Amino acid sequence: MAESPRRILLVYGGHAGGRTERLRAAVEAGVGEAGAEVALTSRPALACGIEELLDAHGLLLGTPEHFGYMSGALKDFFDRTFYPAEGKTSGLPYALFVSAGNDGTGTVRGVERIATGYGWNAVCPPLVVVGEPDSAALARARELGATLAAGLAAGIF
Ligand SMILES: Cc1cc2nc3c(=O)[nH]c(=O)nc-3n(C[C@H](O)[C@H](O)[C@H](O)COP(=O)(O)O)c2cc1C
Repeated sequence: MAESPRRILLVYGGHAGGRTERLRAAVEAGVGEAGAEVALTSRPALACGIEELLDAHGLLLGTPEHFGYMSGALKDFFDRTFYPAEGKTSGLPYALFVSAGNDGTGTVRGVERIATGYGWNAVCPPLVVVGEPDSAALARARELGATLAAGLAAGIF
């Protein structure tokens, strides 16, 4: 049996009341489907540090696209934790969701390159939602959270 509860850290950018926040709420609801076997900590990227990252069994990353890249807040989280985490988070399962106005590809490319540098493993394809999240997008966001949580609870990741 895997250590229980398994801990997921959700690190997010985006402004309060925004689209990334709505996607995040759906992702969090998906994590909640795993019940008490999974504990979730959600942190704004600017307030999230290395201790929380090193404590996590799984990672969720959420960001809007800004100027063809991830939000400065998420980039700042990576900038601050990359060297302190070096060699300590290899194999960490993660999933990414992106809110974009019309694109999102630059953000996915940027985050995936950085995740490769940490040695993290994507558990599912990134979710990119263009424009206002509709019910289908929110369902996919929920599924993304549920996928990581269920896999951790089952000891698959
Ligand atoms: C400063 C800024 C830059 C942006 N640059 C892009 C961009 O390069 N590509 C894109 O698709 N959307 C871009 N957008 C639109 C946002 O990605 C989009 O509105 C997103 O849904 C906002 O998420 P939020 O409500 O969580 O902040 C930009 C928005 C802002 C405020």
